[in-house]
Amino acid sequence: MNIQVENAAPFEYSIPCLVVPVFQGALGGIAGELDAKLNGLVGEVMGEDGFKGKTGETFVLTTNAQIDAKRVVLVGLGKAEKLSAASLRIASAKAARRVRELKKSSFAVALPVLPTAAVDVTKEIVAASFVDGILLGLHRFDDFKTDEDTQSSTRIESVTLLSPDAETLKGEILWAQIGANANMRARHWVNLPSNKKSPQFLAEQAREIARENGLSCTVWDEHRILSEKMEALYGVGMGSDNPPRFIVLDYSPAGHENDAPLVLVGKGMTFDTGGYSIKPAANMEDMKDDMGGAAVVLGAMSAIAQLKPPCRVMGIVASAENMINGHAQRPGDIVTARNGKTIEVLNTDAEGRLILADALSYASEQKPAAIVDFATLTGAIGIALGQEAAGLFSNDDALANRVLAAGEDVGERLWPFPMWDEYKEHVKGTVSDVKNIGLERRAGSIAAAVFLEHFVADGIPWAHIDIAAVALVREDKPLTERGATGFGVRLALELIRQWS
Ligand code: BES
Ligand code: MN
Ligand code: ZN
Repeated sequence: MNIQVENAAPFEYSIPCLVVPVFQGALGGIAGELDAKLNGLVGEVMGEDGFKGKTGETFVLTTNAQIDAKRVVLVGLGKAEKLSAASLRIASAKAARRVRELKKSSFAVALPVLPTAAVDVTKEIVAASFVDGILLGLHRFDDFKTDEDTQSSTRIESVTLLSPDAETLKGEILWAQIGANANMRARHWVNLPSNKKSPQFLAEQAREIARENGLSCTVWDEHRILSEKMEALYGVGMGSDNPPRFIVLDYSPAGHENDAPLVLVGKGMTFDTGGYSIKPAANMEDMKDDMGGAAVVLGAMSAIAQLKPPCRVMGIVASAENMINGHAQRPGDIVTARNGKTIEVLNTDAEGRLILADALSYASEQKPAAIVDFATLTGAIGIALGQEAAGLFSNDDALANRVLAAGEDVGERLWPFPMWDEYKEHVKGTVSDVKNIGLERRAGSIAAAVFLEHFVADGIPWAHIDIAAVALVREDKPLTERGATGFGVRLALELIRQWS
């Protein structure tokens, strides 16, 4: 879908449907102008029909040719003094879905004029939030629906944002589209069932991204993984007929070839049965999302040629399928990671940290400016935070603050956890250097993080983002229909944008 911005008068703009924002309890701005054009209809609706203008509330008007658009979707923005990027994203997503219900394939939005009360919100934030809300709110995964109804249901092809500031907003709007498109690409991979994706599939997607973006791409197969001393990754992949892959994408712009790279690392389990420490059957299907971290990295790298940041960025994905056969890893096996540390695999279901051990060791060898990893690592993170935030773990306060700020800016919330020395005892090995689980039912997400820290070389700023609970939602949310969220892609891009 295409979103453009124009400097045109909303009520003289020829379009089947116009979205008009309304602040709660105030009939000013564009809503007030519309009210005048329609002889008090908006006021009437607010008085008699119970439309209050609460965030995301919608009401459809028929205009009887008093303005150019035949239908108007009023959308509430909530109270002016509480306006935020988050409320704007929700409102625009709800409005776009309402237009789709009306079976219109294009619409325009009269971007709201900012009231003086909304102190923290800029015109740029308004425009970007509308783009985010519209694109993400309308996204759905229907690739496997063959029935007529779904096939013929309305697809919105074109959206025009109307603003007197059109010229100055173009860059911001384009940028928001790049971010949303990268997010949707990630959602697609996560939504794919595991019989349609494998480590080799992710490697092929990475190669394609490299081609599209002019990046260099290296893929190691299972033999190379072993000869490169990645026994932890190899061990996790042994029990599947879909062998593991180690994938590296390198964006190295002219003049920055020798920069210390920002390295993004993603967990790419294309399915996680748990292995011999097998998971219960209930909800096991959700484990198709266990490559959510890889999707973040690949999604972000797919947008990088458009973003063109003046700094080196590497994307690393360790990918495997955690299955069971006669070659599968056993509880109690001891493997040696690439950095030489030995790991006792006390639970084959704590496999994410094993494949990341090798990926982080490799990332550390790149002499990076910083490493940020994304991983659907622990069920425990959802016990702590639910689906309202991802967990943040870091060895460096400055990096943690930059990552937190990027998340806040794009509406992907993080919450920081401690990694105190006392926790490090939890994963201390008895017969090996480290063990891959902590103490039973205690600080599971922190135990995973302090385990990972063993594989980050000293002195490298590193942040780990546990997206296990936010990668997939089981019910519809304002910005995501049931399924993959793409959480982390826009955060990663924002971090890169603010990096140099
Ligand atoms: N992939 C899971 C974590 C997960 C849980 C992702 C729920 C998405 C939703 C991970 O590999 C795992 O199984 N972790 C175990 C660790 C435990 C065995 C120490 C867990 O969280 O139960
Ligand atoms: Mn697991
Ligand atoms: Zn897993």
